[in-house]
Amino acid sequence: MEQEVSPASRRVATSDDLEVSTYLEIAKEKEGQQPLLQDAPKGKGEAVVIIDFGSQYSHLIARRVRECHVYCELVPFTATWEQVASLNPRGVILSGGPASVYEPGAPQAPMWVYQSKLPVLGICYGMQLIAHQLGGKVSPSAKREYGHAVLHQNDTNAPILADLPTSLPVWMSHGDHITELPPGFRALAYTESSPIAMMGSDTMVGLQFHPEVAHTPQGIDILRNFLFKVCGLRGIWTAENFVSQAIHRIREQVGSGRVICALSGGVDSAVAASLVHRAVGDQLTCIFVDNGLLRRDEGRRVVEVFGRNLGLNLLHVEASERFLRRLSGVTDPEQKRQVIGDEFIRVFEDQAAELGEVDFLAQGTLYPDVIESQTAENQAAAKIKTHHNVGGLPASMHLKLVEPLRYLFKDEVRDAGLALGLPEEMVYRQPFPGPGLAIRILGEVTQDKLEVLRACDWIVMDEIKGANLYRELWQSFAVLTDARSVGVMGDFRTYGHVVAIRAVTSQDAMTADWARLPYEVLAHISNRIVNEVAQVNRVVYDITSKPPGTIEWE
Ligand code: XMP
Repeated sequence: MEQEVSPASRRVATSDDLEVSTYLEIAKEKEGQQPLLQDAPKGKGEAVVIIDFGSQYSHLIARRVRECHVYCELVPFTATWEQVASLNPRGVILSGGPASVYEPGAPQAPMWVYQSKLPVLGICYGMQLIAHQLGGKVSPSAKREYGHAVLHQNDTNAPILADLPTSLPVWMSHGDHITELPPGFRALAYTESSPIAMMGSDTMVGLQFHPEVAHTPQGIDILRNFLFKVCGLRGIWTAENFVSQAIHRIREQVGSGRVICALSGGVDSAVAASLVHRAVGDQLTCIFVDNGLLRRDEGRRVVEVFGRNLGLNLLHVEASERFLRRLSGVTDPEQKRQVIGDEFIRVFEDQAAELGEVDFLAQGTLYPDVIESQTAENQAAAKIKTHHNVGGLPASMHLKLVEPLRYLFKDEVRDAGLALGLPEEMVYRQPFPGPGLAIRILGEVTQDKLEVLRACDWIVMDEIKGANLYRELWQSFAVLTDARSVGVMGDFRTYGHVVAIRAVTSQDAMTADWARLPYEVLAHISNRIVNEVAQVNRVVYDITSKPPGTIEWE
């Protein structure tokens, strides 16, 4: 982008100056904030910016664009050109959102979007914004349109609709619609209730429906047309590209400094550590804290893969006793999380102190965490649980952060793990929470209960893997409830633990559905647990989705 663009420098035709000035005031307040994307990967010159207007689907748009192998980032609608320029964007997507464009104070697209002359795709609210800000008219619909609709193309040969049938199913969710096109635009398609369900000019496209959701089956083709035919991109964002760029950037950042990284056994810290190791070799030391709350065999596996196979400097700290002592008598879920987080920091600091001078802390923060914390900051969202990430570490240590996965989604991290040669078993491991089995034991955590849960968990995993369901499920595990129940075994009365099985499907853990596991699999799990784990005499299956439940029980 050669030209200098400043938001207030040029007027764009609008239907309501007052709202634009309100917008400019908001934008001005936010100016001077940290550049958002200063350490972002550059997508090898192919990147798209998605401006978030608060739709619940915003990060689904980002997911879909990445699926097309185009690097993209979600930024707030207050982002200035200076904040996104380092990404060298080749197109802009305006997300949907809950507001009405004509309401006073409704969020508007930054002026640089139009002034930059970049191709723009507006989705739902984003489309209405284009109309509103460029001189068209948006009005409330007589009836809110929500759900399936059939889109019919006008005869326009628009590139955005290339290779698509003349009619296709789409998903609508809007209360406003465009009643007058802005100058230079034409209607590209209609539905029964929306005469202008798509509009386009030479470089801008508006969609009244949501191409990013699964209910619009050809939505991905429309996004692809935008990226490849309208923006002229090629789709070159791959795991291999990412790995080589990340290694280069880590070397630049770290120089000859020393790095520590906490390994959890999970894929995120594994990939982060492997990247740093590739970049700076022995300047990295990994610390693996065995808190005694891990699953069966977990510790041994981490040591084997990282210490033996990958040859990393690995400190294996056996700290079970310290953690169990601190957990003694603790039954409140939040207190458990806090105790574990706190003890983890103490152990980690002790170890780091022994290493002497250290400059950097590498951690496997992912893009959804970044988006979620930005959203939480913006919206002061209610805190449900204190998440303790193994990497979420001590500010007091004054270490600079190395976060090579900060802009990746989970499946991209997995691809990067494979590209780095990590074992599939580690790359496809289901997520496991930092506080470990402690938040799957309701009530006090004791050594005995941990043993019972480990045995049950092992059986669940064995059966799920045996039924070839492991990768389909986001998570599958056992929970040791605090309840006991009466049973009968042989001719004897038993009084044993109740174990719950939790298996969920999910895209990103923000929402989840309970998995419809085959009865056969449930039957095997239940039989094996009550037969092989003496202390358990009853198994139940958790059929709660998230929301209203959470995935973990505590
Ligand atoms: P919930 O229970 O909040 O969990 O629905 C969502 C996802 O996050 C995982 N989880 C954690 N991960 N530290 C972590 O690293 C934590 O403290 C933590 N708590 C929950 C959970 O397993 C699920 O994948």
